[in-house]
Amino acid sequence: MLSLREITRRVEITMLDFLGPKTEGFGLDINDLSIKIAQLKRKMGGFTLTTFGRHEIKDGLIEEGEIKKESELIDVIKEAIKRTQGEPLKTNCCITSLPETESFVQVVTLPLMKKEEVAEAIKWEIEAHIPLALNEVYYDWQIIEAAPDKKPAAKELTQPSSHLKILIGALPKKTVDPYLNVLKKAGLKPLSFEIECVAIARALIKKGALHKPIVIVDVGARRTNLLICCDQTIYFTTSLLISNLSLEKTLSEKLDITQIKAKEIKMKVGLDPKHRDGKIFRALGEPLKELAAKIGNYTDFYHDHILPEQPRGERIEKIMLCGGGANMLGLSEFLNTELKMPVQIGNPWINIFNNPEEASPGLPFDESLSFVTALGLALENYDQA
Ligand SMILES: Nc1ncnc2c1ncn2[C@@H]1O[C@H](COP(=O)(O)OP(=O)(O)OP(=O)(O)O)[C@@H](O)[C@H]1O
Ligand SMILES: [Mg+2]
Repeated sequence: MLSLREITRRVEITMLDFLGPKTEGFGLDINDLSIKIAQLKRKMGGFTLTTFGRHEIKDGLIEEGEIKKESELIDVIKEAIKRTQGEPLKTNCCITSLPETESFVQVVTLPLMKKEEVAEAIKWEIEAHIPLALNEVYYDWQIIEAAPDKKPAAKELTQPSSHLKILIGALPKKTVDPYLNVLKKAGLKPLSFEIECVAIARALIKKGALHKPIVIVDVGARRTNLLICCDQTIYFTTSLLISNLSLEKTLSEKLDITQIKAKEIKMKVGLDPKHRDGKIFRALGEPLKELAAKIGNYTDFYHDHILPEQPRGERIEKIMLCGGGANMLGLSEFLNTELKMPVQIGNPWINIFNNPEEASPGLPFDESLSFVTALGLALENYDQA
């Protein structure tokens, strides 16, 4: 579905020597503090979740996406694979995401030109837009449909427009290679690496339909990913420092309590304005207002700089939340009040079950919000747009 699928395929081709017929893999989402696994299987026109698992990673093994303790991480990955729920994993092939902070996603505009010329021009664009040399990154690109209501025609120069819009994605080799190493040593066969926001969008945006632009906000443990998508294409991504951990830290400082207690309160009370005379609401509200302001700034950026070049010229319709933090009591309402825009919780099953109201028996909906990336990666197997 997503244009960036090609990027991961190219990375695979560049890096790995066991290509051959397409093998199905499971989704493996590795963050600083947790590993999430999801495997899907086709079922009556949709899918079913066969295997899933979440395993915590202790502090210090991965810091800001950088692997610090290789052998301990290998053990944790092996353990995570052993402890999955549902059917035992039947494959050691995986599709893995890499930290958003380390990746580059950029839409560039080029004059209409031949495909071979695009391949050359892209190299210049990468040098211009990405702060790394070409030989330091794995990259790929894809022509985005200028008029999205037509059937996507990847890498075919059929647009009637006078210019080409091209989505470029790049991952630094110095980020990819250590993960590749660790996964292989853990006995896995990485089929491809994917930029995290691509997997998130694949999971949450209903495939095959036209959509007004939306902002997806993934409120994770250590960081918050923000992406702006229109239809199935990502136009903007960034990673923000306000996260569950930073909120817990603020709460513990303001209320003079331990961070463990702060987490407990955040999970139980969230943004209830009445609790403890609004003390918790005010403490959490301050950083969350900052988060809302940042979302507002990026929304303005889209409207000012990206929307004018969009064929349908539509404004952002809504904000979609995911990640464990999306479960925080009152967060949707809070952001709705601050941003005066509809805020909804994303549905990670929208492209999995035929009936999107269906819930996975093993994985409750609130927990599934933490599995958005893993599920998006698992769906990559079947992404034949
Ligand atoms: N009901 C809830 N209220 C508030 N916070 C919650 C709730 N449920 C889960 N969380 C928070 O969600 C976080 C976990 O979210 P998630 O699994 O998306 O993070 P992650 O993917 O491991 O982290 P990251 O993406 O930042 O590396 C935890 O910090 C947890 O405190
Ligand atoms: Mg996450």
